[in-house]
Amino acid sequence: MAEVKFYGKEELPLEMHKVRIIQKLNLLPVEERYKAINEAGNNTFLLKNRDVFLDMLTDSGTNAMSDRQLAAMMTADDSYAGSETFYRLEAKIQEIFGVKYFLPAHQGRACESILAETFVTKPGMIVPMNYHFTTAKAHITRFGAEILEIITDEGLEATSKNPFKGNIDTVKLRELVKTRKDDIAFVRLEAGTNLVGGQPVSMANYKEISQICREAGIILVLDASLLADNLYFIKTREKEYKDTPIIDIMREFGDLSDIIYFSARKLGCARGGGICLNRKDLMEKMKELIPLYEGFLTYGGMSVREMEAMTVGLEETLDMDMISQAPQFIKYMVDELVKLNIPVITPAGGLGCHLNAKEFLSHVPQSQYSAGALGAAMYIVGGVRGMERGTLSEQRNPDGSEPLANMELLRLALPRRVFTLSQVKYTIDRINWLYQNRELVGGLKFVEEPKILRFFFGRLEPNSDWQVKLVKKFKSDFGDSL
Ligand code: F0G
Repeated sequence: MAEVKFYGKEELPLEMHKVRIIQKLNLLPVEERYKAINEAGNNTFLLKNRDVFLDMLTDSGTNAMSDRQLAAMMTADDSYAGSETFYRLEAKIQEIFGVKYFLPAHQGRACESILAETFVTKPGMIVPMNYHFTTAKAHITRFGAEILEIITDEGLEATSKNPFKGNIDTVKLRELVKTRKDDIAFVRLEAGTNLVGGQPVSMANYKEISQICREAGIILVLDASLLADNLYFIKTREKEYKDTPIIDIMREFGDLSDIIYFSARKLGCARGGGICLNRKDLMEKMKELIPLYEGFLTYGGMSVREMEAMTVGLEETLDMDMISQAPQFIKYMVDELVKLNIPVITPAGGLGCHLNAKEFLSHVPQSQYSAGALGAAMYIVGGVRGMERGTLSEQRNPDGSEPLANMELLRLALPRRVFTLSQVKYTIDRINWLYQNRELVGGLKFVEEPKILRFFFGRLEPNSDWQVKLVKKFKSDFGDSL
């Protein structure tokens, strides 16, 4: 990674790429933003992108592609079976993870569905993991197993200096292996965590997890969707890996895992996914489900063009200049917010900057979806679209009661290489204004609540006229400014 010191005092992330294709953006006036979010049921998933200024909903499928990725798309080999494109991708996966087999799937959750269907084989099974991801949990519970979160206690503390808050508590894992070994369908490790602040996992922790699983004959599954950021954190935060080439860190993950799956909407900066592994017995068990749900074994539901882009994107993941950009921008954003005393998850992780709604809106109870309300407010004051990662993103208990999320976060994702520093500064400015005016923000309540993954389509309304007051204050402070 290039190290560039500034003569002045300011510490700034410096991009090692230039912008060559741009997309025009649109920033609506505040009254129209208020109207748009209400038409969207106060759910940022339901906003139309034409009404969004900075789309920080996710990094999924929205990372900027490189010139080499775009060029590779033109060389795709269109064929249903035996496409050269597939063999190029398979070879890249074999090279970077050091595995023999690659089962393609159309995106990450398709891999999760296949894993759950294959390995949840009897009632009463459990899947221990550092932390759940929405779709992983939905598929595992769909087949009747229970997920058990055994992240270290510090992982759930909003602010910390622990560089690896995503680690599994290996004491808890050993205990589960001792008491419920036969019930464990597999152990799942998400590197890094999605719902609790993009926090990474250390290699030391993963080595220990792998040893525990191997000794007990338990399948260890790595969710590598957010691995690019995690590789950067291992290299920069775990002393022993300072001089280790990225490919060696990736291969070590390959050696320690039984199965690796990933969303290529994130890892590889394209759109697709797949399952990577060495064990033939496990591969044979899953293989038949690929043509059933995804497509033939040499495309798995992906477009060949995206597969070519993925091959190059995975190769570019080995470049520190590439994988450092997002974490450095996120760190800049988090550090600036900390300076302003705005509650944000620390240390800065991957994926995005996570505002801590429990503190930001401490007067709004979680039962009124404070992170969801913060998301609606953020859109109104800045045209910035974030994603609720809190109680709304949870599913109800089987008895209909509502579990309050451990963390109530508004995630502002920074898709890789997409936003400029001035756009990040604008966002910080609007967050700051909102924080100074936070007392104006109230809660939300459901008007329509879907049973499964309710955060995608659910519609909500404000529980008072707080948004009208927020718009009024914005107008009085900003006048005619957008
Ligand atoms: N695992 C992790 C850690 C993820 O972040 C995601 C997706 C998936 C699995 C599922 O992959 O979307 O390709 O089906 N996360 C997206 C997000 C949706 O916005 O955080 P997918």
